[in-house]
Amino acid sequence: MMIPDSLKPTILVVEDEAGPRDALKVILRPFFNIQVAENGQVAMRVLKEHPVDLVTLDQKLPDRQGLDLLQDIKIEHGDVEVIIITGYGSLKSAMEGIRHGAAGYLLKPFNVTELITLINQTLEKKKRLDCLRSFLKHSGELAAAERESEQAWKRLSEQYSSLTKAKQESDPRFGASTSLIPLLSDLLEAKDRQLFNHSSRVSFYSTLLANRLNLSLSEQKSLALGAFLHDIGNIAMEDHFLSKTERHETTGQDRLKRHPEIGARMILPLGLPAEVGQIISYHHERYDGSGYPYGLQGEGIPLLARIVSIAQTFDHLITDHPTPQALPIEAAVQQITLQADTRFDPMLTDVFARVINECKASLPALAMSARPMPIPEL
Ligand SMILES: [Fe+2]
Repeated sequence: MMIPDSLKPTILVVEDEAGPRDALKVILRPFFNIQVAENGQVAMRVLKEHPVDLVTLDQKLPDRQGLDLLQDIKIEHGDVEVIIITGYGSLKSAMEGIRHGAAGYLLKPFNVTELITLINQTLEKKKRLDCLRSFLKHSGELAAAERESEQAWKRLSEQYSSLTKAKQESDPRFGASTSLIPLLSDLLEAKDRQLFNHSSRVSFYSTLLANRLNLSLSEQKSLALGAFLHDIGNIAMEDHFLSKTERHETTGQDRLKRHPEIGARMILPLGLPAEVGQIISYHHERYDGSGYPYGLQGEGIPLLARIVSIAQTFDHLITDHPTPQALPIEAAVQQITLQADTRFDPMLTDVFARVINECKASLPALAMSARPMPIPEL
């Protein structure tokens, strides 16, 4: 059955060579409205002038690097999804693309089924993320006082499950909290894909460290989930989320420092294990008491929060976000070790340094990964 053009999603094909560009056009035209651009400049112009749902982006363009164009697209059109199409030998930069917010990549030569499947999966996800983005824009109550927040979560999860009815899936990693995980995960991604990627990696590094400690199964699950949600308060940093007093806090820095407290408040109605809330509340506390927001000290900071503090700092050091320059793994471990006793728990720092040194060969690939890493079944 023919789909009317008005119902078809729009794809922008960015490709400098006429042959592949025309081939993509022919393949995709039955399912999508197609726009084309032969270079970065034209691509940005098309995005400005037409509503586009998804871009297929060739890495090599005559006027600029695909990765630079990707970053501009994500800055100016954050809700447009990008799939990178790349030749053999450019896998590393395709992975970089994922880190900068691309939804996926395809290696040339690819077949038609692979391409259409990836596009459809990405568009399906975009539908979910768009719904969550509009909820976040119009509803500040997720971080409100108890009753209001509870109602807002209820409304959100009803909307979300009507979108995902067909694929309610369980995730053995998080036990009883399972049905919430896809929603929370999409919520982080809807806010900011880099935040989602960071959260996934921090959960992975925390689990790596936890495997060397004698934690109970429930502690391990709380750690995986708490580490994944540690920055969830960042979702609620816009004005409409905050109370009058919170809005009047002067600098962005002061406001940023509220994210642990706001995050812990946000998840209260969800009935998650207490340790998850503790991780969110205390992941910026420092061992010597100089952290925020409560200035807790030493073992007064819950163990799981002390683990996440190390894991999230490590991830910030080895990725270029938010610092301008990423450090090599060894240098990042060294920086963390230098802060044992002041910023971090010395015993945990020692274990972390050992674990990272043991598996550093495989870490770059894992660190690039955009998905939460699975926790082994116990
Ligand atoms: Fe944080």
